[in-house]
Amino acid sequence: MKLSGSIALVTGANRGLGRSLVTALREAGCAKVYAAARRTETLASDGVIEPVQLDITNTEQVTSTAARCGDINILINNAGVAGFTPALGAQTMANARLEMETNYFGTLAMCRAFAPVLKRNGGGALVNVLSVVSWFNAAMQGTYCASKSAESSLTKAVRCELRAQGTLVVGVYAGYIDTDMAAHMWGAEQFSKSSPAEIAARMLAGIENGTEEILTDERAQSVYSALFKDARPFESELQKAWDVYASQR
Ligand SMILES: NC(=O)c1ccc[n+]([C@@H]2O[C@H](COP(=O)([O-])OP(=O)(O)OC[C@H]3O[C@@H](n4cnc5c(N)ncnc54)[C@H](OP(=O)(O)O)[C@@H]3O)[C@@H](O)[C@H]2O)c1
Repeated sequence: MKLSGSIALVTGANRGLGRSLVTALREAGCAKVYAAARRTETLASDGVIEPVQLDITNTEQVTSTAARCGDINILINNAGVAGFTPALGAQTMANARLEMETNYFGTLAMCRAFAPVLKRNGGGALVNVLSVVSWFNAAMQGTYCASKSAESSLTKAVRCELRAQGTLVVGVYAGYIDTDMAAHMWGAEQFSKSSPAEIAARMLAGIENGTEEILTDERAQSVYSALFKDARPFESELQKAWDVYASQR
């Protein structure tokens, strides 16, 4: 997947990893980068970067963004929230619902709205920013882990569904990133954090190479090897099952 000359959209682009992704895409030679965020006042347009107001949980805004940004061939679903609450120990289910609404349903809405756009523009790439906690549950942030797990499962479904249209569907599994989000995480001081610029650079290298599952750092690699063997043969069986199902519809 060639980044130079591409047109990309990044959600949650006003701070953290999203902001670094916008800068990195610009430096990689993208022709246009839509910087989508709930608050766009800190984002300046400069001929390449174009701010777009977007709350991914707002269905009307998702639909109108897909209409306005109909020229993209790279979608990066980066926006996310983490309340860091336990599943049972939290006083209410408010964080659990917000995390699911944003990380799972918001990302799903973006995938649904932009899949036809990517198809029209030759396939392109759809990238979901996931986490090592998509693979396991750390109970002190149990509700966030569940939402990132759901988002990872969604990514695999979308990959099967969009393979036939030639869309590269990428899951990005990151350890700790030095952003506002990680500043509020219990115990994060025990682990080293990567800078958002480093993670953005590894993500773009992976997208350029056509990598479907990007493990962005040492933490992601060590957790992966502790938990899994090679999942690809099993996942290719799942792809075949989808292809048969899709051919019979
Ligand atoms: N930080 C880590 O250690 C870490 C590790 C693994 C994965 N991740 C993932 O990396 C991604 C980026 O996180 P980050 O570390 O950069 O966090 P961050 O600094 O807290 O930034 C989160 C971004 O998401 C945006 N956002 C939240 N809800 C939104 C919504 N409904 N609509 C649109 N934008 C929304 C925020 O916008 P506002 O400014 O309007 O709130 C902000 O721009 C997330 O998907 C996160 O789960 C983070």
